[in-house]
Amino acid sequence: MSEAPHGAPIKTPGQLIAAIIAGFAVPIVIIVLLAVYVDNSTRTGAGTDSLSEAEVTARIKPLAQVDIRDANAPRVYKSGEEVYKAVCSACHASGAAGAPKFTNTADWAPRIAQGFDTLWHTALSGKGAMPPRGGTSPDDYSDFEIARAVAYMANNSGGSFPEPAQPAAGAAAASGAAAAAPAGASDAGAAQAAAAMAAMASVPQAAAPAAAGTQSADASQAGKALYQQVCQACHAAGVLNAPKFGDKDAWAPRLKDPMDTVYNYALHGKGAMPPKGGSTASDADVKAAVDYMVSAVK
Ligand code: HEC
Ligand code: HEC
Repeated sequence: MSEAPHGAPIKTPGQLIAAIIAGFAVPIVIIVLLAVYVDNSTRTGAGTDSLSEAEVTARIKPLAQVDIRDANAPRVYKSGEEVYKAVCSACHASGAAGAPKFTNTADWAPRIAQGFDTLWHTALSGKGAMPPRGGTSPDDYSDFEIARAVAYMANNSGGSFPEPAQPAAGAAAASGAAAAAPAGASDAGAAQAAAAMAAMASVPQAAAPAAAGTQSADASQAGKALYQQVCQACHAAGVLNAPKFGDKDAWAPRLKDPMDTVYNYALHGKGAMPPKGGSTASDADVKAAVDYMVSAVK
């Protein structure tokens, strides 16, 4: 038994362990470095793409953007499902704040029993924690679109309401209602309400944005246009005792009020007079329509 050859580098168990570890570690380090070297072509330092087109456009894009809508373009109505998903689902999907839950027939049965028109009008005017129109503005969702959302929700929750009819466009429908309504107007309260519903249902919702477009051009033109599209449904013939167009006696007592009060009645409703005549016109156009009606009795 001779001793380990003289000069052998490993003399103690500690050196042996160190040699074994180095034997594994060195190749691993080399492999890692090679791997890094091979794919370093795709690496760039942080921030080096900050002058790329996409990055620059993102940085200099305007903070606010104006969404220009063509007032004369035919209005494209959203489906009930679209309105529901965009607006109503915020509360009705989960039943937040005590909202009747989507597809929960037990929640909906007693409400559906009230009939479609009641539900629709509740959706428009609000009830308890339910904000009017689900918190949207009439410029974004017309009454018709809200009606579709109501039908969509109710029909997915045990109801079977027909799809709401699209509002007729143009003054023809409105004057048709004016002709038809007085028959009901002469009757008692229930018939009056029915006539009001008939008149309101035929108020063309699509007309309002179109009228808004003309507002900057000429306020009195816009007032006349809105009168013809909406207000004359009741005011031409005096439906539901609306003060008749051009009837000085009917208007005189009302015009004793300051004009702001008269405007407010037109904007927010009074008795059988629905807010804005049931339309979605802008405040300015409604005031212009009042001016147009008032100028006819001066
Ligand atoms: C901020 C929450 C919220 C949003 C958004 C919302 N709702 Fe509601 N909704 C409620 C609550 C709460 C009730 C229950 C009100 C009650 O019975 O007091 C309710 C009730 C209703 C009812 C039943 C009314 C009745 O007569 O019993 C209808 C219909 C309705 N909502 C339609 C809609 C439509 C359509 C939308 C979307 C355009 C909408 N809701 C968006 C909270 C909401
Ligand atoms: C559904 C029928 C109906 C429609 C549509 C309608 N009105 Fe009326 N309006 C009435 C009735 C009814 C009254 C009388 C209300 C009362 O005195 O109780 C009235 C009253 C008014 C008054 C007088 C308020 C006062 O000072 O006493 C103004 C102003 C008016 N309407 C403006 C308008 C304008 C503007 C429009 C169209 C944007 C319009 N109305 C559409 C039914 C209607």
